[in-house]
Amino acid sequence: MPLDLSFEGAEHDVMTELLERDESLASLAASHAAGGRLVFVGGEAGVGKTALVRAFAARARGRTLYGGCENLATPAPLAPFVDIAGQTGGAFAERLSVGADPRFVARGFLEQITASTSVILEDVHWVDQATLDALRVIGRRIDETEGLVLATYRDDEVERDHPLRVVLGELASEPGVSRLTVPRLSLDAVRELAEPSGADAVAIHGLTGGNAFYVTEVLASGAQTLPATVRDAVLARAATLARDGRRLLDLVALVPGAAEHWLLEAVAPESFEHVDECLASGMLREDGAAVAFRHELARLAIESTVPVRRRRALHAALLRGLGTPPAGQPDVSRLAHHAEEAGDTSAVLEHAATAARLASDSGAHLEAAAQYARVLRHAIGLPAASRAALLDAYAQEAQVTGSYAEAIEARQERRSPSTEHSGIAWRRVERCRDSRFRTSTQVGTRRPRQRAGLRSSCSRRSL
Ligand SMILES: Nc1ncnc2c1ncn2[C@@H]1O[C@H](COP(=O)(O)OP(=O)(O)OP(=O)(O)O)[C@@H](O)[C@H]1O
Ligand SMILES: [Mg+2]
Repeated sequence: MPLDLSFEGAEHDVMTELLERDESLASLAASHAAGGRLVFVGGEAGVGKTALVRAFAARARGRTLYGGCENLATPAPLAPFVDIAGQTGGAFAERLSVGADPRFVARGFLEQITASTSVILEDVHWVDQATLDALRVIGRRIDETEGLVLATYRDDEVERDHPLRVVLGELASEPGVSRLTVPRLSLDAVRELAEPSGADAVAIHGLTGGNAFYVTEVLASGAQTLPATVRDAVLARAATLARDGRRLLDLVALVPGAAEHWLLEAVAPESFEHVDECLASGMLREDGAAVAFRHELARLAIESTVPVRRRRALHAALLRGLGTPPAGQPDVSRLAHHAEEAGDTSAVLEHAATAARLASDSGAHLEAAAQYARVLRHAIGLPAASRAALLDAYAQEAQVTGSYAEAIEARQERRSPSTEHSGIAWRRVERCRDSRFRTSTQVGTRRPRQRAGLRSSCSRRSL
């Protein structure tokens, strides 16, 4: 039975038919009724995890809190809990502002959860280490509460040694923890989706393997010939936009997560005037006072088409815009990201170093190591003493996270800066970043072992 599903604030998505999810929804409802459960909702990229948990939330009693992890090369520590604190305010927000120890955060979080609360933590395959530590505690103690926590993740991006995989294993025997796998759509479901347009359902199902995102993009593209990849399907849909709308799309594609209205207005006021066209096309959706791609895979596809020089110029403009938010402090993780993408060395040195220290203070040592690695990639001309201090800091973070080879490498470089060790670790980190797009857009036709988790496992293993 199709279900009418309301997505928050997304005009074009207001009534999306959700097919073949009755069983999964019933299972989530049973977990909710039982209470004290953490359910990891897994499935390949684009299979329909978000649609499922939102459909559940739309039907569930009580309130739903949302927190999400983002596809940044180096995610901000505790980002999902910061999102949630923004919704709860009160004691939890205060707790998060004074102490970012993950155990402390987890305890505060558990206190928020009552029988009438569901929490959705999205995309935990991009989790930062502090959030992961908090999840460990939450998994062990969730059965002492009456609430429900759903954590979505791409199971094909979580290799055996991915930190999330380790935590999934550790929590497997906890009484309050379970897993739910979201399956691909059957041929019958694809037939139902293709019926209004008269498209060839058998061909589409054969091409996409029933991956919900790929199917919907192929149908939305309206292309005469079937787009052979997700990227082609997304680009065919984007091609229906006029030039200015397409320029706005390029800009939003360079902002992981969501792009705030104030940021877009500051960076490209003329393009921002075309936001309604992008929303009407279904490429973008509203997200509070921000806009975001309807899907991360679409963002990556558009990002990959922005020419290098333009991309750098836009990142530089985003860096300037983000440096002066209308309220509060700038987000240094975002500044470090755009500084690096803009090729602005002095800004990387400043912001990535600050982000590293903040991450370390909050126990997010993987992210701290990644930020120090980012600084080191750009610290070639620094005085020897400054570079040595950075190598020390990096080595310490790498050691804490169990990356012993990298820690030793950094210490060797510190002792003899001109040796062949110089820069090895930081170059490796860069390679992993560059391979993100390739691994994230080949849904539907990929072989899991081939594309599994390069982004996540590289950014962790190599640091
Ligand atoms: N059961 C379904 N029936 C019909 N369409 C669906 C279904 N599930 C998802 N979709 C469509 O597929 C698109 C992709 O789904 P969704 O965003 O939920 O995937 P996801 O698994 O969360 O992807 P990601 O791993 O990138 O987060 C949705 O925008 C929705 O339009
Ligand atoms: Mg999702």
